[in-house]
Formats: sequence, C-alpha cells, structure tokens
Amino acid sequence: MKIRKAVIPAAGFGTRFLPVTRTIPKVMLPVLNEPAIQFSVREAADAGIEHIVFVISRGQEATNDYFHPVPPLEQALEERGNTELLNEMRDISSMVETSVVYQDEQLGLGHAVLMAKDEIGGEPFAVFLPDDIFYGDTPAIADLIGVFSKHGSSVIAVKYVPDESVPNLGIIDPEPLDESVYRIKGMVEKPRLEDAPSNLAVIGRYILTPEVFTALENAKPGAIGEIQLTDAIDAVRTEQGAFACEVTADHFDVGTPLGMLKASVYAALRRDDMSGELKEWLKTTLNC
Ligand code: UTP
Repeated sequence: MKIRKAVIPAAGFGTRFLPVTRTIPKVMLPVLNEPAIQFSVREAADAGIEHIVFVISRGQEATNDYFHPVPPLEQALEERGNTELLNEMRDISSMVETSVVYQDEQLGLGHAVLMAKDEIGGEPFAVFLPDDIFYGDTPAIADLIGVFSKHGSSVIAVKYVPDESVPNLGIIDPEPLDESVYRIKGMVEKPRLEDAPSNLAVIGRYILTPEVFTALENAKPGAIGEIQLTDAIDAVRTEQGAFACEVTADHFDVGTPLGMLKASVYAALRRDDMSGELKEWLKTTLNC
C-alpha cells in the first residue's frame, strides 16, 4: 500500500535553542543555508510522499510559507537570468503539497501527531521528526516504506548507538528478521545500560497505521504530563505487531546547537566551493 501522507510535528518550544526560538521556529534554523525542515520534506518527496501536514504553533507560519512560491523573488531571478537559482527555488515549492494544523498547547509529541488525525484520515502515514536528518543515497523513509509494504504494520527507524548513549534514548527489544529489519518485541524508554535489551535506539522516522490515533486518544499523559508517541505505538504493537528498520545513513540530531553545528560543518565539507577553505581554517584554528 502506498504511503501518500506524512506528519511533521514542529510545534515544540525548542528550549535547547533559546533564545533564537523565542520568535523563529526551530525547524527554520539553517544547516548551512537550508532550513532543517527541508531535509525531511525532501526525504519525503524523494520517497513518493505527496502531502505533508505540518503541526505548528501560532506564529510559526513561516514553516509552511517556506514551501510556497515567492513570486517577487522568482521574477527578480528570472529578470537577472539566474536560471539555476530560479529552478532551485521553484523546486522547493513544487516538491509536495503541504497543509498546517495547530497544536495550541504543547502537550507532547503524541498529542502533536494526534492534531493531524483529520488531515490524515484512515490511511497509514509517515511521521518525520525534523531534528533527525540523514545524508544517504536512499531516503531513510523509503526503507521503512519497503518494510511496511512487506509486513503491513508499524515500522520505526532505529540506529545502533554506543553504550554510553543507551540510557538517554528509547531502546527496542529486537528479534532479527531480514538484513537491517527486526520484529519489535518491546520498547523501553531510557533504560539503565544493564537492563537495555539492545543498542538499537528509536530515531525520528515512523510509518504508522491509523489505529495509532485511537491509542493516542486513549493515552494518559505520562510522567511529565505529555502524551507520548512511543506509548501509543507500543499499544498498537501488542495488537498488530511492529517492525524496526536499522538506518545506516549518516545521521545528525540538529535539535541542539552543537548538533546543528556538526551538521553544518559536515554539509560544508561536502561542498566543493567551501570544503578547501573550511579545512584550511579548521587546521589553523585547531593548530594541527
Ligand atoms: P522535542 O522533545 O525535541 O522538543 O520534540 P522541542 O520543543 O523540539 O525541543 P526542546 O526539547 O524544547 O529543546 C520532538 C519533536 O516533537 C515536536 C517538536 O517540535 C519536535 O519536532 N513537538 C514536541 C510538538 O510538535 N509538540 C509538543 O508538544 C512537543
């Protein structure tokens, strides 16, 4: 079955990025010169997703406006004959259809996803956490869609993490199936290392069945008063089963200033017009 729609929850406060996130949506902060959210939207479009629902809070409309045409800019680029940049700009507004739903109270990621229920309707859909970005040949979500086509129930992206990261993350109890594919036997949030069933941590890409909305509606707010997406997925898992797909593409968490800086440096090192000068500057600065 085709996955046509995706939800991108982006209504959080972005406290780790304050003060800039007082007025600027976190997802609009740039990795070099591209807003972080563009990575998720491009990944979705490359995997054949047609419609994206952004969950935002009031005042964050820039996130959706970004994916619409900017006529005066396009006209100016056309008049100047800057066809390459003009095509790049047109590409941004033609990748996918987008719409917006509001989350008026920040009651957690699960609650944010629930806000998109009417826009998604009764079909399976993708969720992208825009803090997670990947550099790879195939879009990470495409691998998850492949697993969903085969098994027909929820699929979660996981990444192998070192021991020291395990106690800070959601960890799955995996039963290996095919290469990089696991059946999920259980999920634990932030386990002690000695209790952790594996080193496979949940990262921000999901294919979910619409039953997750019912589980979210029935969910009780968790420890910090938030409705957790993981709990709802786990409830659906006990009925329908769930699978994990290990992503091996280079991954960055751009939800913190340091993560964003690393991703930006990585992006610059991949660009012919920047990498030479950047390496020279780093060498001099680091004195090596
Ligand atoms: P985070 O836990 O990273 O929260 O949310 P945050 O607000 O982005 O950042 P910090 O922790 O305050 O620095 C994971 C994803 O879920 C969205 C966020 O926008 C982010 O994309 N989210 C979170 C919502 O949309 N609504 C919420 O109530 C909570």
